[in-house]
Amino acid sequence: MQDQLDALRIAAEKAVSIAKDATELEAAEVRFLGRKGELTSILKRLADLEPEERKKMGAAANEIKREIELTFASKRRDLAQQKLSKLAELEREDVTEPGLRPPEGHLHIVTQAINEITTIFEKIGFTRTRYPEVDWDWFAFEELNMPPDHPARDEWETFFMDAPISKQGKMVLTPHATNGTARILAEKKLPIRNINIAKTYRRQIDVTHVPMFHQFDGAFVAEDVSLAHLRGLLDYFVKQFFGPDRQIRLRPFHFRFTEPSFEIDVSCGVCGGTGLGADRQKCRTCKRGWLELGGAGMLHPNVLKAAGIDNKKYSGVAFGWGVERTYMMKQGMQLDDIRTLYKNDLRFLQQF
Ligand code: DAH
Repeated sequence: MQDQLDALRIAAEKAVSIAKDATELEAAEVRFLGRKGELTSILKRLADLEPEERKKMGAAANEIKREIELTFASKRRDLAQQKLSKLAELEREDVTEPGLRPPEGHLHIVTQAINEITTIFEKIGFTRTRYPEVDWDWFAFEELNMPPDHPARDEWETFFMDAPISKQGKMVLTPHATNGTARILAEKKLPIRNINIAKTYRRQIDVTHVPMFHQFDGAFVAEDVSLAHLRGLLDYFVKQFFGPDRQIRLRPFHFRFTEPSFEIDVSCGVCGGTGLGADRQKCRTCKRGWLELGGAGMLHPNVLKAAGIDNKKYSGVAFGWGVERTYMMKQGMQLDDIRTLYKNDLRFLQQF
């Protein structure tokens, strides 16, 4: 029996030493020490021995059982330790590994456009201003040669503020950035080279209109300013903003605050101003070779007079149009709904 016990101990120690994980170790433990295990079956045979021998073997069996138990316990500790250090290995920080980039934002495309337009005009001595976006009727209309009740006002779908009326009339959300030109004229610091870029508001919302949009409105006022200056300014801007191959053309139009007045077109970047696509059909972007930019003209003498500027000595040109539209034209962006610009959908905004 002693031999059997010794053999059992050797077999158990071997099984413990080759157990790779807790599951294998447990299986070995059941096999050797379990209720139906190998040690139990040896112990069952103790009953057949003489009392003297039984006592001796009983003690020896207990001794071996304890030894085997200790072997299992120590292996169990080793395995647990190994598992911990493996986890630690996995979790150890590698300081040379590149970090996760925090999400990085960028300026909204309209802000980018405003910055770009500002830089272009600053290069030729203009100052960018941002006159009030909630202003008096006087600056939005009256100083601009549109007396109260003049039908020309209807074009500017104006939002009126529920505010007390002042000497300068009702308070409005500026329907165009030309109020900035009216204000800088009234400051009478000549010569004037100013570009007012601001938010403007009109009571319109559909796929081609948003009730809040941006305009830039420029004015150049000095002695002997002529239409040639206007052409030069617009030509410069268009080449800087859209590219050196682009042309402008002035189409006669009517505004109350300029005389003569024009609408400015820029040659289409896709067909080069020919109006024809590669397939000799009408160009799909412009249909006629030109894209409409905005308005311009020589400042009306009444406007200079209303601002208190000597209109015999000074003359000036002005021009103004929408930032959103201009930027979309530059990008060749054909948004089927202009409201997309202000929906704050990152899938759209992240492309610019
Ligand atoms: N303010 C005009 C508009 O919103 C555009 C405009 C036309 C501005 C002629 C000007 C100008 O400065 O000279 O439709």
